[in-house]
Amino acid sequence: MTQYTLPFRAIVRGCGGALPDRVVTNADMAEFVDTSDEWITERTGIRQRHIAAEGQYTSDLGTEAAKAALADAGMKAEDIDLIIVATATPDMTFPATASIIQRKLGAGAGAAFDLQAVCTGFVYAMATAEKFLASGQHKRALVIGAETFSRILDWEDRTTCVLFGDGAGAFVLEAVPTEDAGGKGILASHLRCDGSLTDLLFVDGGPSMTGTVGHLRMQGNKVFREAVGRISDAMVEAAEAASISMDEVDWFVPHQANQRIIGGVVKKLGLDESKVVSTIARHGNTSAASIPLAWSVAKADGRIKDGDLVIIEGMGGGLTWGAAVIQL
Ligand code: ACO
Repeated sequence: MTQYTLPFRAIVRGCGGALPDRVVTNADMAEFVDTSDEWITERTGIRQRHIAAEGQYTSDLGTEAAKAALADAGMKAEDIDLIIVATATPDMTFPATASIIQRKLGAGAGAAFDLQAVCTGFVYAMATAEKFLASGQHKRALVIGAETFSRILDWEDRTTCVLFGDGAGAFVLEAVPTEDAGGKGILASHLRCDGSLTDLLFVDGGPSMTGTVGHLRMQGNKVFREAVGRISDAMVEAAEAASISMDEVDWFVPHQANQRIIGGVVKKLGLDESKVVSTIARHGNTSAASIPLAWSVAKADGRIKDGDLVIIEGMGGGLTWGAAVIQL
């Protein structure tokens, strides 16, 4: 458990999302794999997903989300001195998608790198950015979750291809001296990995092992069994580290993997269902993009607002999982 007393707080200044135009419904999916709208909706809550166009890359979605977040924050690309991109589907093996996004944004200074924690990527990236900002090393960060999972799906495997979608979300964080922060900022984060479970969820290709990109493979029911307990534990530990009780939380913005997992966490922790932000029906699982995308939707429609206390969580390949508590 970590209680932070660093010189700066990392405060959320803005957020934004980006989705490809093309929508693929469950009925569309049923035209090329042996599935049904009923099966997908009942097991996952997903009704549709957005799929990137040919020639539309992770960096394009990430750049669009970053521009929206900068506009929301009232900042310009040149104000940013740190870009962290959480992605499992980079444009290329290298350079980092963060470098490409920096170029596309015209944000010339500071550090830029990718971070890989699959569906927990955004929680890991927020925690990492917070450390850079809280130490005073960097002033303003773009934290981006961007994915084109459609490129690593086996479109003949009905057990996985129906679950994922493409998209991106971004936050602008700013370092503010702790004494001036008024209690705002990323109050705590809790990150975990159990590398003994890498075989539950992986991509069967990569530059070093096969020289190919590979396809996503998942033992979905085993991942499912691991999910609720681990996610709930991380949330409780992050809440304890932030010295808050779950009753005080205004919004729970979970990684959008499966509505049943979200429901299981809500039940286990006794959360108020009306405080859950769920976009899984419209977005599917967009991996590292899902939390900032869902957050952006809830901010745009007036639910998440200044002064709110928000808890985020994620779980994905690795297995990785984690949670963070954010005071707006
Ligand atoms: N359409 C119709 N039937 C299907 C489909 C489909 N798309 N997919 C599987 N089935 C069938 C199976 O073949 C199986 O049939 P059988 O009983 O005849 O063998 C049956 O449905 C049940 O399959 P299960 O895998 O046991 O179904 P389950 O209830 O576990 O739901 C799901 C599957 C939705 C994948 C669920 O296990 C899940 O959500 N797991 C967690 C996923 C997750 O959270 N991943 C982590 C994040 S992702 C990341 O990090 C990249």
